[in-house]
Amino acid sequence: MIQPILPIEAYTSQDWFDREQESIFSQTWQFAGFVEDLSESGDYLTVQAGVNNILVLLDDNKQMRAFHNICRHRGTQLLRTFGKRKKSIACPYHDWTYDLDGNLIAVPECKTQFPDLDFKILSLHKASVGTWRGMIFVHPDPDANSFVDWFNPLEPYLGHHQPEKLVEYVEGRTSHQINANWKIIVENYIDGYHLPHLHSQTLFMYDHRRQRSGFVGEHFHFYEPLAKDYLEGIENNSPLPLIDHVPKDKIGAYTPMLFPNLGLGETESSWSTFHIIPVAPDRSIVEIRSKVMPVSNWKYMQQEWKSWNYFGKRKLDKYGTGNEDDPLASGDFMAEDIYVCEQQQRSLKSPYFSIGAIAQDLEQSVYQYQINVLNYIEGGVGSRGK
Ligand SMILES: [Fe+2]
Repeated sequence: MIQPILPIEAYTSQDWFDREQESIFSQTWQFAGFVEDLSESGDYLTVQAGVNNILVLLDDNKQMRAFHNICRHRGTQLLRTFGKRKKSIACPYHDWTYDLDGNLIAVPECKTQFPDLDFKILSLHKASVGTWRGMIFVHPDPDANSFVDWFNPLEPYLGHHQPEKLVEYVEGRTSHQINANWKIIVENYIDGYHLPHLHSQTLFMYDHRRQRSGFVGEHFHFYEPLAKDYLEGIENNSPLPLIDHVPKDKIGAYTPMLFPNLGLGETESSWSTFHIIPVAPDRSIVEIRSKVMPVSNWKYMQQEWKSWNYFGKRKLDKYGTGNEDDPLASGDFMAEDIYVCEQQQRSLKSPYFSIGAIAQDLEQSVYQYQINVLNYIEGGVGSRGK
């Protein structure tokens, strides 16, 4: 029998949380957004990468640059959230100002207060930035140069989707506060055992028995084909227009988890990011963004009508109670997952809590993931992500 490898404290203690922030989230590439979030010089966004807040912007030549989002004067955060077309970056505290290359260009009362100030050594600290499959990633280390090495080994296991050719479905952008440790959410995402059980009424479109999964480095990959009856009439059954550039023999659900905390959902009709953000030992935020085919609203309505034949007759309610407020009766697989993650987190407090067994094949990923996390915490493996 395989026993889990992380102790309960890994999911409950502030000390573990802090160590993860330093040795995992400050040492790996973090998802920051979509390439199209930034289009003009001076457009910017900010993202937390472990103990670092990073700002990403387009410079005067529309080149993407990343800096640590702290003023060189007294360390105040410079920019908040995201914004458009900034000409320069001024600190709110004392108005020290930087250009879009991170150079310090203005200091109020400089002549009288800082007669010997050397502007050159007080540029913003650089960070690393890279783009892959239409996504922006940052790394706090300016010399983190193996971005390609970090993600490319995963390519053969991903869907044939070209996210750059899809458009964001803005109403589908959601943020969920979840009362669970971030690793419980990851473990739920990569657990192939629960799919036909917890999601028996919500993910019946996929053939869970034919799932294939594994690891490439620290990254998890997962694929399962569509269920036979769904695939047979897929042009009509799909609730959204099919992604037209995915060959029919490659169609299915690809749901990798990029270490440490970014899930992708690459399906027959959409492409999504599932970003798990640790907030506290027992609290996380999941931000979901989705892309779909760039076709007219009319096409979307037509497709929805057509799919009614397949979905309309189905009961999506696991227990048939009809109570929409019950996550297990909601017909929403995300609500089902959130429910079990929060329940598991609560159970960790019970003196009777233990893991009885881990399924050798279908939960193997959970076991392997815990080893990967432990390697970072104990072994300083983080340098491999550089
Ligand atoms: Fe699930």
